[in-house]
Amino acid sequence: MSQRKILVTSALPYANGGIHLGHLMEAIQTDIWVRLQNLRGNDCVYVCADDAHGTAIMLSAEQQGISPEQLIENVSREHQKDFADFLIHFDNFHSTHSSENKLLSEHIYNVLDKNGLINRRNITQLFDPEKKLFLADRYITGTCPKCKAENQYGDNCEACGSTYSPAELIDPRSSISGATPIEKESEHFFFALPEFRDMLSDWTRSGTLQDAVANKLREWLDTQLQEWDISRDAPYFGFEIPGAPGKYFYVWLDAPIGYMASFQNLCDRSDYEFDDYWQNDRDTELYHFIGKDIINFHTLFWPAMLTSAGYRTPTAVHVHGFLTVDGTKMSKSRGTFINARTYLDHLNPEYLRYFLAAKLSNGIDDLDLNLEDFAQRVNSDLVGKVVNIASRCAGFIGKGFDGYLAEQPDNPELLAQIQSFKDEIGDLYESREYSKAIRLIMALADKANQYINDKEPWVIAKTDKQSPELQAICSSGINAFRLLMCYLKPVLPAMTASAEQFLAIEPLRWDDLDQLLVGHKINKFKPLMTRVEADKVQAMVDATQKEFEELAQTKAESPAPAAENTTGFEDEIEFDDFAKVDLRIAEIISAEHVEGADKLLKLVLNLGPDKLGQEISRTVFSGIKSAYEPEKMLGMLTVVVANLKPRKMKFGLSEGMILAAGPGGKEIWLLEPHTGAQPGMRIT
Ligand code: MSP
Ligand code: ZN
Repeated sequence: MSQRKILVTSALPYANGGIHLGHLMEAIQTDIWVRLQNLRGNDCVYVCADDAHGTAIMLSAEQQGISPEQLIENVSREHQKDFADFLIHFDNFHSTHSSENKLLSEHIYNVLDKNGLINRRNITQLFDPEKKLFLADRYITGTCPKCKAENQYGDNCEACGSTYSPAELIDPRSSISGATPIEKESEHFFFALPEFRDMLSDWTRSGTLQDAVANKLREWLDTQLQEWDISRDAPYFGFEIPGAPGKYFYVWLDAPIGYMASFQNLCDRSDYEFDDYWQNDRDTELYHFIGKDIINFHTLFWPAMLTSAGYRTPTAVHVHGFLTVDGTKMSKSRGTFINARTYLDHLNPEYLRYFLAAKLSNGIDDLDLNLEDFAQRVNSDLVGKVVNIASRCAGFIGKGFDGYLAEQPDNPELLAQIQSFKDEIGDLYESREYSKAIRLIMALADKANQYINDKEPWVIAKTDKQSPELQAICSSGINAFRLLMCYLKPVLPAMTASAEQFLAIEPLRWDDLDQLLVGHKINKFKPLMTRVEADKVQAMVDATQKEFEELAQTKAESPAPAAENTTGFEDEIEFDDFAKVDLRIAEIISAEHVEGADKLLKLVLNLGPDKLGQEISRTVFSGIKSAYEPEKMLGMLTVVVANLKPRKMKFGLSEGMILAAGPGGKEIWLLEPHTGAQPGMRIT
């Protein structure tokens, strides 16, 4: 078979959050597929990137007090480290905020515009008058117009399930500033998607999509194909639209072009040719792996844009379902959201790769990571079945035969049987029926173990450590192990590398399944995979819970702007404002009239000892002359704002402010000495 040239992508993760196990399910599914292709001798390139544009990233950077460029750079580094540690091998990981993507996006847009497919018209949207920002539905909260449930987001009510337009919400608020949004008109740019109805009907029916996906799309195509709003008004983090100052490409316009941009970036430093993969009628294949939530972007807008701009369309879009954990949707608000790093802090990445492979099919059903099932599955299959074969045979080969395998394994039928599944297992991987491939591989591992059980090499070794029979049996076992590892190589690249080292062989290729290892010296056996320990799994769950609580805590400390002023005071302050004020007890050590001032007293305060034991004294001018006799104030305690920046006043420098209220005398702000309060005590 001739070598196929294949370009593969997985969806570009948003740059405003970390990689979690849901992203990883997609990346692992894709990575296994790509590795299989390359093992089989095809030339398969895998590119990805961060999806760096949009309002969320702009706001997130603002909140962190950094530029969006800085934010996406930090995140990119983390994303790449997380993926690499899960043994995801990208040929390139780029960013949608790149020069390649800017050029390609502008080019494609210009062609669409020239083809008369960009329509401009005014639309009215909700606008945050404080933040000066048009508000996407998810940034608007209010009371449901149907059931009156409060705090409902954007365009649907979680309480009663009804859908509406955000403008119908009762008492709508911007969740960014708390302001009441106003309606505002502006010009938007639309891509004329309905022009592509026929093209898309053909394309979606031409075997490029799974049946479940094609059926879903049929409804869309028949009923709700609308023009697509591709522009956003400034301020927006993205690319400005050529010839339209203040208008930006909507993030989903340039996101899929990011696939091309990442590949272009790779071409610029390798022998790959961009046109070979993106021009029409070339002998290459293009696949996108995505989750079921982003089907419309990849199977409607994207092929239409590509077609109009004169590029090829994808060979196929491979859609997967969602990962759930212990039966529940991964959710930030419920603390069931496992981050890539949290997993890695406690568990081996290949456990997850294997578990997912053992569960994945080519359908779009959700997949559950049941943690008990996870540990049990990995332990019984990988440790109990696969590694067991090698560990039971390797010692005898080392001790009795100086590491040499027999010239003739004693059970060619078993090995031939394992080899006979080469095409079937390869094809199951190719069609993304990983769970079926794994089931077959484990059935073969069972056969190999059964054979060793029947032959009982340990019994022979008791009487003769150098018996040729012993060598032949164990050589069959080791050969079975080698073939099984080759089958598992797309799923377990690190474990396979250890096995290759143990077997003293070159990196396995799919065609190596046709050969056996005879008269060959292997290395000493080292454990290739250890058991999943229940307490490590628990530690990951606990850490996830802790992260969730910490997140909830920081959210409570810096709450989103309250929708309403609940204190009733117009100049309500945030908790943070209050926390900045350093209030301390101070002793009044001197008090005198100020020449020429009718209201002021000049006070000298003792604020208690500083770090070196020196008393801190401060001079404060206070407008309390009408209420207090200076002489009577000596030795009294008061409360002072200690960290107030000194202010120059007409009569001198005032280095603080004392709290005072009432008509004078023993008011709350003056404390009797010796009540337990000491100068310097901080009031909290
Ligand atoms: N940035 C867009 C994709 C642009 S592609 C041109 C996006 N990003 S995402 O970070 O929200 O999701 C990236 C991928 O992860 C998507 O394919 C999405 O379906 C997938 N998943 C996100 N959560 C998931 C699960 N819980 N389970 C499986 N896949 C999930 O969408
Ligand atoms: Zn409702």
